Amino acid sequence: MIVILDFGSQYVELIARRIRETKVYSEVIPHDTTLKTIKEKYPKVQGIILSGGPASVLAEDAPKCDPEIFNGTIPVLGICYGMQLMASTLGGEVKKGITKEYGKASILIDDNFDLFEGLWLETTIWMSHGDTVVKMPEHFHKIGHTNTCEIAAIAQTKKKLYGVQFHPEVVHTVRGMEIIKNFVYKICNCVPVWTSKSFVTKAIAEIKATVKDQKVLCALSGGVDSTTVAALLNAAIGDNLTCVFIDQGFMRKNEAERIKNLFEKKFKIHIIYMDAAERFFKKLKGVVDPELKRKRIGEEFIRVFEAKAKELKSEYPFLAQGTLYPDVIESATVGVSKTAVKIKTHHNVGGLPEKMDFKIIEPLKKLFKDEVRKVGVELGVPDEIVYRQPFPGPGLAIRILGEPTPDRVKILQDADVVVQEEIKKAGLYRELWQAFAVLLPIKTVGVQGDERTYKYTIAVRAVTSEDAMTAKWAHLPYEVLESISSRIINEVTDINRVVYDISNKPPSTIEWE
Ligand code: XMP
Repeated sequence: MIVILDFGSQYVELIARRIRETKVYSEVIPHDTTLKTIKEKYPKVQGIILSGGPASVLAEDAPKCDPEIFNGTIPVLGICYGMQLMASTLGGEVKKGITKEYGKASILIDDNFDLFEGLWLETTIWMSHGDTVVKMPEHFHKIGHTNTCEIAAIAQTKKKLYGVQFHPEVVHTVRGMEIIKNFVYKICNCVPVWTSKSFVTKAIAEIKATVKDQKVLCALSGGVDSTTVAALLNAAIGDNLTCVFIDQGFMRKNEAERIKNLFEKKFKIHIIYMDAAERFFKKLKGVVDPELKRKRIGEEFIRVFEAKAKELKSEYPFLAQGTLYPDVIESATVGVSKTAVKIKTHHNVGGLPEKMDFKIIEPLKKLFKDEVRKVGVELGVPDEIVYRQPFPGPGLAIRILGEPTPDRVKILQDADVVVQEEIKKAGLYRELWQAFAVLLPIKTVGVQGDERTYKYTIAVRAVTSEDAMTAKWAHLPYEVLESISSRIINEVTDINRVVYDISNKPPSTIEWE
């Protein structure tokens, strides 16, 4: 495995993911972790990467690492700030750049023996730096330069210390993956054995060792994370697992049935299905404000779950959660801004109570989303769930503008089915981040048959996105929009008008509430 010391780079997660793409396990750890601790905590560590970061090594309070890390016992790759730190720690010199360099550049390869093996002459890289190494430490040699940066990559082959001023982890560095593979396979001698299969085997053994023959409760939402957690626990402890699924009344059409069937019939997992719709509708009576809606739903969810949990507490010492690695990295602030390494309890199921008297197990907490999907596939979770588009915890309630009543939920469910079906039929489901219907609280005039109608409007929203932080409205083909619109108007009696949302995020958000 490889550890990545986090100096606060915006790309630190990306570095970890790139390493894992080479089928080698990686973890992000605080930048000041000592070599001794690294070796103790990760006896299998074969390489260390120093991430980039926003600081300047010239600043007095610049974040440092344990200098022992460079003692030659473990290969090190310093990226950007990491390279500057390596150079300055070992007696080289770093200067404030006269011009800051951001964006694409060309590197000329001076030595393609190990780190740059397979690279020739010149290749495109991604730069993002202010400071520059102007003098290498003793015994280092230059392996790459650019027009503006004389020392863009360095090596000390005997001790296996390497530094690159650019970012091999970002896609704009055209041959970045080859550089990473060279480091991982050739320099660190890692073997590509970290796969979803090996993860599952290990996770099952760990769960068995932790849980023994005690019982585990798992809150299920039907999304990929909680479903994969449940499938994993089922494989590990079988009958000692019970899943709680709370139907708040705002699920998609037939969704609750589908989830029940999948768990009971396919996985043969004991599931406690709680139809709490009535309670939720009551709590939302007259509620129009989006924030109040979310709050009420969140609180009610906690109340329902807590009551059930209390009832089962003596029997179930463990509670399983679908926390993922990005949640852990982001909430632990392992980077430069590190204070106490505190891991926030993160919840997938519409927010569980902060403090519950359970021992928590989070079997996915070292995985990225795409890895969870692979693990899901490995465990037999159907594609329909593994590749499901995100669905908000509060469900359709935040897609019904105005008070979410049972009648309105029914209208939206019917319109939403049409959107799902047509998007899937057009082969666009996986390409889109999300596609869904929103029920607007306004009525407009229409004409159907020979009759005047006065009915509700559906807005269709479809977006593309990488991570939901930003999103673009999808340029759906007119034919798809046409069939969505005519089917909704024909099939959903309460609708006589369909509009398409053409707003990006920002300034709009993906969901309407
Ligand atoms: P916005 O509307 O903020 O949504 O652009 C960004 C992404 O987050 C999803 N979303 C939620 N997911 N619980 C969730 O699990 C929620 O309360 C929630 N609200 C929004 C949304 O669907 C989109 O993918």
